[in-house]
Amino acid sequence: MRRKLDGLRMLITGASSGIGRSMAILAAEAGAKLLLTARREDRLEELLGVLHAKGCDARYVVGDITDPAHRQRLVERAESDFRGLDVLVNNAGVGAYGSFEDATPERLRTLMEVNFFAPVELTRLVLPILEKGTTPAVCNISSVLAHRAVPGKSEYCASKFALHGFSDALRAEVSSKGIDVILVSPSTTSSEFAAAVIEKRGKVPAKGKFVRTPHNVAVAALRAIRLGRHEIIPSKTGFAMILLDRLCPSLADWAVAKFGYV
Ligand SMILES: NC(=O)c1ccc[n+]([C@@H]2O[C@H](COP(=O)([O-])OP(=O)(O)OC[C@H]3O[C@@H](n4cnc5c(N)ncnc54)[C@H](OP(=O)(O)O)[C@@H]3O)[C@@H](O)[C@H]2O)c1
Repeated sequence: MRRKLDGLRMLITGASSGIGRSMAILAAEAGAKLLLTARREDRLEELLGVLHAKGCDARYVVGDITDPAHRQRLVERAESDFRGLDVLVNNAGVGAYGSFEDATPERLRTLMEVNFFAPVELTRLVLPILEKGTTPAVCNISSVLAHRAVPGKSEYCASKFALHGFSDALRAEVSSKGIDVILVSPSTTSSEFAAAVIEKRGKVPAKGKFVRTPHNVAVAALRAIRLGRHEIIPSKTGFAMILLDRLCPSLADWAVAKFGYV
């Protein structure tokens, strides 16, 4: 379904940096009302100044997205401040580098909590109010690694594959209620993501040649929300890797083992 962002009420997680921050600025420029969240309050405060200067009706709630009480607070703020919600952007995410053999169970637990359980449980809480919203949508920021896994990021790939599968199933379940589910699968993006990984062990992936900016990804994601696209892969290298994987999986296995990741 096509939608205009003007006047829509959007909740964006992970808005303190990178793709989430860029999406907030672009959505504000398009006239959306914003409820933002992340853990770093100073970053959210700075962003709020930028958004208010653009005339945007924006506010934030600080907290850890893995905390059920925080997720509940977000829904309550959407109800109390905006009388509902039209678009949920599940963007908050975290990574880890290093082989699975060297990793602890806690690393797997953290990545699945942030990248999979938190967005899925937030979606569960938000769906009943989205149903009453205007041109409602859930936009999940996934990764090209949700289509083709690579070495040294096993838990991250697993968490994004899980989010991908959930998004496909949910899309089919809620389409009759008029809710779009949009999956955005970026490649390497020049955000704070690499610096924020919870662990760096062994060979740290080399920086890709064709790195996108958070702004590039945010433009593509908001376009997908406007057009009601089911899924987008906002980079040619990411698209090429997925295509290679589908057409010639053994060559793709060789390529990711040799070059790491895109
Ligand atoms: N950068 C890439 O190369 C790349 C590629 C493909 C997909 N992605 C995906 O894009 C999304 C955005 O990442 P980014 O590149 O913009 O990285 P980023 O700049 O590091 O942003 C990540 C955001 O997630 C928030 N966050 C992380 N853990 C959180 C937690 N436990 N509770 C609440 N918020 C949390 C961070 O805020 P606080 O630290 O303030 O809480 C931050 O706002 C992620 O889902 C990531 O997996 C990134």
